[in-house]
Amino acid sequence: NFGWFLRYTLTKSVGIAMLGMGVVGSGVARALSQKSDSLGNQIGANVCLKSVLVRDKTKQRSFEIAQNLFTDNFNEILERTDIDIVVEVMGGERPALEFILAALESGKHVVTANKEVMAKHAPDIFAAARRKDVRVLFEASVAGGTPVVSPLMRDLVANEVVSIKAIINGTTNYILTRMSSEQIDYKTVLKDAQNLGYAEPDPTNDVEGIDAAYKLAILSTLGFRAQVKDSDVFCEGITSLSAKDFQYADELGYAIKLLAISSRINGEVQARVHPALIEKDQMLAKVDGVLNAIEIETDLTGRVLFHGPGAGSMPTSSAIVADIINIGRNVAGNAAYLDPVRLSESIKVQSISDLQTKYYFRLEAKDEPGVLAQIGSALALNKISISSFIQKGFDPEQGTAELVIMTHQATERSVQSALKDIKDLDVVARIGNMIRVSE
Ligand code: NAP
Ligand code: HSE
Repeated sequence: NFGWFLRYTLTKSVGIAMLGMGVVGSGVARALSQKSDSLGNQIGANVCLKSVLVRDKTKQRSFEIAQNLFTDNFNEILERTDIDIVVEVMGGERPALEFILAALESGKHVVTANKEVMAKHAPDIFAAARRKDVRVLFEASVAGGTPVVSPLMRDLVANEVVSIKAIINGTTNYILTRMSSEQIDYKTVLKDAQNLGYAEPDPTNDVEGIDAAYKLAILSTLGFRAQVKDSDVFCEGITSLSAKDFQYADELGYAIKLLAISSRINGEVQARVHPALIEKDQMLAKVDGVLNAIEIETDLTGRVLFHGPGAGSMPTSSAIVADIINIGRNVAGNAAYLDPVRLSESIKVQSISDLQTKYYFRLEAKDEPGVLAQIGSALALNKISISSFIQKGFDPEQGTAELVIMTHQATERSVQSALKDIKDLDVVARIGNMIRVSE
């Protein structure tokens, strides 16, 4: 058997330490064990898992490894000279950041799945890696098993990126897909997503759009080659969406998705994550379940689409093990390598108030003469032009009707001002929702 032959003929070894062995770490350990022959073949050296940092050494894991590999002391890993690559899959900003920087400082290469750390600290991490002439790869930090980080760093490097439009949170896409097709309630679907290992340890990050904002910050930083931090990304989650929004959107020819969008406008960047109405015939509207998709528009290539699994143990391990192979080849060949990420000093980030797009409003108002005129006038005074005005159900107890309004292009600034004016009208009981339209 060739695998057997290979194992005994490879003389070099690449030592791996893993920080964390939860959903992702267990998938990585499984892949390293089950594919050891093929990895050896790809790298030209045996890959050897030497140590795994966890909080609780006694905990049952979904993939079993030798008990003596577990440690709860990071310094043990740092001091070992037989560890070439530190794979960080513990999550959270701290102590993960300190561990990554310490590993780089000690001359070890790093592979990480940590979007929060990369979104907030990429320049410091790149600088530490350069200083020590080691590599840091982070494919799994965006879109799980779907390659997009490496294509942006390498294959599209000749391009100027014009815009990125993406579905990059599997949990929310899974929730929105099921809410839309099964009229199922939000909390039940979230539980399913957690059981399937898609959700973050704290699902607030998923449903409030924070996880997608981290990922958009990483993609924008690579695409625009200047640091775009998570705090530069406008962020609104999916918790205000109701079954009615899905029903009305569907009737109007739209799907609702949590979109992450960044564009370069007159030398500045605008980056935002929010639920959006997207025409059903657009490609991103058809991306369902835990799948992710990233559409990148560039000057040379035009539009490219990356589509595939965005979360889960094994898809994510695919990205991490690919990074290990990539670095392992350098280690085995003793070749120095610098990643081609050169960031310029800074780029100006636009406020969400400057956004120009179309909008959907759902509101409840008294069903009596003159109501539409008052709402129409509040919109007109804010220079917002209506493209359609539909009256939906009537609530006899409250004496209110539900109104759905679609606008032509307007600025976010004027929309926020109009919504405030509409809310103050005596005839308006409640503003149900406002959703931006993706054009
Ligand atoms: P997880 O299941 O919660 O696992 C985290 C692991 O890290 C656990 O084994 C935990 O140890 C260990 N850990 C956490 N804090 C630690 C500390 N301070 N010291 C030592 N060990 C610590 O998380 P996950 O879903 O695998 O996610 C890991 C990373 O991958 C995160 O950055 C996440 O954003 C990213 N990611 C996840 C997915 C996904 O589909 N889940 C996809 C792409 C990227 P114990 O087990 O002993 O508690
Ligand atoms: N919680 C994340 C998601 C995991 O649902 O997309 C992958 O980063």
